[in-house]
Amino acid sequence: MSEETITKAGHGLSGAVAVPGDKSVSHRAVLFASVAEGKSEISGFLKGQDCLSTISCMRQLGVHIEEESERITVYGNGPAALTEPEAVLDAGNSGTTVRLLSGILAGLPLHSVITGDESIARRPMSRVTGPLRKMGARIDGRDDGNLTPLSIRGGSLKGISYSSPVASAQVKSAILLAGLFASGETTVNEPFVSRDHTERMLRAFGAEIRKEERRVSVTGGTVLKGRNVRVPGDISSAAFFIAAALITPGSDLTLTNVGMNPTRSGIIDVVRNMGGDIEVEGLREENGEPAADLRVKYSKLTGTTISGEMIPRLIDEIPVISVLATQAEGTTVIRDAAELKVKETNRIDTMVNQLRTLGADVTATEDGMIIKGRTSLNGGTVSSFHDHRVGMSLGICGLISSGPVTVQQADACNISYPGFFDELNRVKK
Ligand code: S3P
Repeated sequence: MSEETITKAGHGLSGAVAVPGDKSVSHRAVLFASVAEGKSEISGFLKGQDCLSTISCMRQLGVHIEEESERITVYGNGPAALTEPEAVLDAGNSGTTVRLLSGILAGLPLHSVITGDESIARRPMSRVTGPLRKMGARIDGRDDGNLTPLSIRGGSLKGISYSSPVASAQVKSAILLAGLFASGETTVNEPFVSRDHTERMLRAFGAEIRKEERRVSVTGGTVLKGRNVRVPGDISSAAFFIAAALITPGSDLTLTNVGMNPTRSGIIDVVRNMGGDIEVEGLREENGEPAADLRVKYSKLTGTTISGEMIPRLIDEIPVISVLATQAEGTTVIRDAAELKVKETNRIDTMVNQLRTLGADVTATEDGMIIKGRTSLNGGTVSSFHDHRVGMSLGICGLISSGPVTVQQADACNISYPGFFDELNRVKK
């Protein structure tokens, strides 16, 4: 079992970190290029386990994909060229792979079975299989199609108008992808705006997308055209270094080329509300996705409340925000975040239990947590429970704890940030 031990920083974090490519954008680039006609070169691709699972599933469906360092070349021949896979498709730990790929598979006239690891086996899939069945796909799985393995027999879909009960980009994307292969128009309404990488990238690949706030439509029948994609750095990976620099005295750290899509940048707003010193420099846009460099300094923080439409804008950053809140004066309340219970682990329970082991004052609620600060953290042994974001969040506690923090199952970071602990030790002075 892999373990990492993080000890107190003497002089803070300094220098620059180029965080790896955005996970959501990397998945989408491979998936869309695989059903497009023509060659697509993807640079800055995240070579984390989740995105590699997407590549291997698409190869099983007959797509020719070449990998050369962080550049991926996909030779798309259109959706009709995809072939029935001989074996079960394995999404590993990746919910994005299962859900987005299900949308594509629902639209294709072939049979496939998709599964994943123990964590995937517990995650709810009826949120995508329900609407995909309404479009005409024949899908089955444990618990009446709610749990993997999912068996999908697709093709001959009709467009639907669907109001999703959850603000989920995976649900929205699965339906829009199926809609691309369906007759007529497909519309998704969501309760709050979720990340919009799918809309931006589908448009860039030539799809007809209409968007009005919480409502997105796609017209079926367009074949995507291959194109080159540059993937920006992942703000969800940058978040660990943002938090680490804010809580570690003496820090002055720059994060280069971080994706700044407004549907993902809630952490910047929250950090500013808490009194954090973060500067956004050189804001630019590349193939429809904004990016910037971030300069973050050690700051005196105060507690805050995070709820409502802000939640989807920072859902994956809540584990690390809970660490930040332990170092803020006053109380931080996180509400409307019940979705955390159905991530790679139940992130409310896992973070609350592990942070308590380190001496934090944290309480779980039905839909979030309450964190009282500021508490000095003691060292100890904690576990990621195989959840990448939990493992990295706990790791940064070691920078300010009175004793070392050992994170068990630390290799979970390979899901989204291979080399995270080496990078943390490199910028720690
Ligand atoms: C993702 C959407 C979010 C997020 C996940 C990646 C995506 O999940 O938590 O890490 O790439 O679409 P939900 O759609 O379940 O909110």
